[in-house]
Amino acid sequence: MNKTIIVSNRLPLQVQVNESGKVTAKPSVGGLATGMKSVHRDSNGIWIGWSGVKDEDLTLEIETKVNQAIEKEQCIAVKLNENDLDNYYYGFSNRTLWPLFHYFLEYTEFDKGYWESYVEVNKKFAEVVIAQAEEGDTIWIHDYQLLLLPAMVKEKNPNVSIGFFLHIPFPSYEIFRTFPARKEILEGMLGADLLGFHTYDYERHFLSSVKRILSLEVNFNEISYGNRIIKVDSFPMGIDYDKFKNAALQHQKQTEVEKSEIQKRLDQHLKEEAGVKMILSIDRLDYTKGIPNRIRAFEFFLKKYPQFKEKIRLIMLAVPSRSEVPQYQLLKKETDELVGRVNGEFSTVSWTPIWYFYRTMPFENLIDLYTSSDVALITPVRDGMNLVAKEYIATRTKEDGVLVLSEMTGASKELDDALLINPYNFGEIANTIKQAVEMPKEEQKRRMKALQKRVSRYSVEKWAGEFINSLKNVKQNLADVI
Ligand code: G6P
Repeated sequence: MNKTIIVSNRLPLQVQVNESGKVTAKPSVGGLATGMKSVHRDSNGIWIGWSGVKDEDLTLEIETKVNQAIEKEQCIAVKLNENDLDNYYYGFSNRTLWPLFHYFLEYTEFDKGYWESYVEVNKKFAEVVIAQAEEGDTIWIHDYQLLLLPAMVKEKNPNVSIGFFLHIPFPSYEIFRTFPARKEILEGMLGADLLGFHTYDYERHFLSSVKRILSLEVNFNEISYGNRIIKVDSFPMGIDYDKFKNAALQHQKQTEVEKSEIQKRLDQHLKEEAGVKMILSIDRLDYTKGIPNRIRAFEFFLKKYPQFKEKIRLIMLAVPSRSEVPQYQLLKKETDELVGRVNGEFSTVSWTPIWYFYRTMPFENLIDLYTSSDVALITPVRDGMNLVAKEYIATRTKEDGVLVLSEMTGASKELDDALLINPYNFGEIANTIKQAVEMPKEEQKRRMKALQKRVSRYSVEKWAGEFINSLKNVKQNLADVI
């Protein structure tokens, strides 16, 4: 039976090795893992990626246990050592590609050692994929850590069909052209038979780079490459809508004893400070997310509209991420200072304007936050999609709440009933926060219903299904031509 092989940098598992050497592998709850469930589990598929445990921490005995644990979850590990992590992961993936593709040219470091490691690690992935792939299989490769992999697999296995999806933006040609390895990166991606992006804009940027850098013929969304036709399309990723909706419905029914500590404290505040509006933001602590802009805009709002002092609060959850990269350390420092400055300037004995959490939070607590907030304030300066916006929408089962969303997110292309803002325009953000907290219930409902209609229809399962179908069609069309 033909199978689907999914490949991503990280496996969709939380692998833990405790002090006594016991190994556990729990499926992670992320969007990609959920969306792939039907593709992965129901089709006898396998998922190839890094287990999260580096070679140096693996004795032979632990490695055997890790492999056994992940095999149970239909996963296969690619081994990465400390050098790979420093140069391929922290280096080329997160100090070169990530900033470049998010338009942070000034953060982009092109280092020959990083590049060589990126090529080597993509080869390591290729070896594992090639060992598993059989004629008739479908391979779906994910994201910027593996841009060279499609061509490496295609070269050895011309008859398997390969899909590639980029989860981050593809930048405009004027940005991409600055990149020394631009040709190699495009040629690597063109090993795929179908290339998917979140939005039509990213798709266009990619096609224009292919045309200008590789001088290939592009016909609408098809690229002629040697004797192959490669299809490029947009597939906006969704969320597991029912999971968030049902969790929110369940949350409403909780009795006092069932409530989390966080929810109890939130309830207490909502009772003591009746009428105080809660504004929520949730992101990984990443410079693309516009966190300093958000705090500055909130500060500007409090100055411009002092009548809201003691009447509004920003709850900001920043999830630690890639903290070995210097730009992330600087951002942490800047965020700490800005929060301190705003709280220092505006707090009163009974009110703190920003509640700032720098940690991961379990799913149940995210639901507490989503359902208790009047406004979600999502202000990335660049973001491939942004699923937090969609999660907020799915949890608003009473059809209230307002989404304020940056027009620099992929999600903004679908969610035009949100209040869209330019994350660099503090004046506009301040006025939009005011509009959001003063929005009449009927307007909230009208907008939220429209948003829910869109997000519930285009769930992550649908996204995965449409991509796989499209990949099958590309293969079918090719077979017809031959
Ligand atoms: C983004 C990327 C993913 C990545 C995730 C977390 O969503 O598109 O590929 O896995 O961030 O980042 P990390 O570096 O921790 O894997």
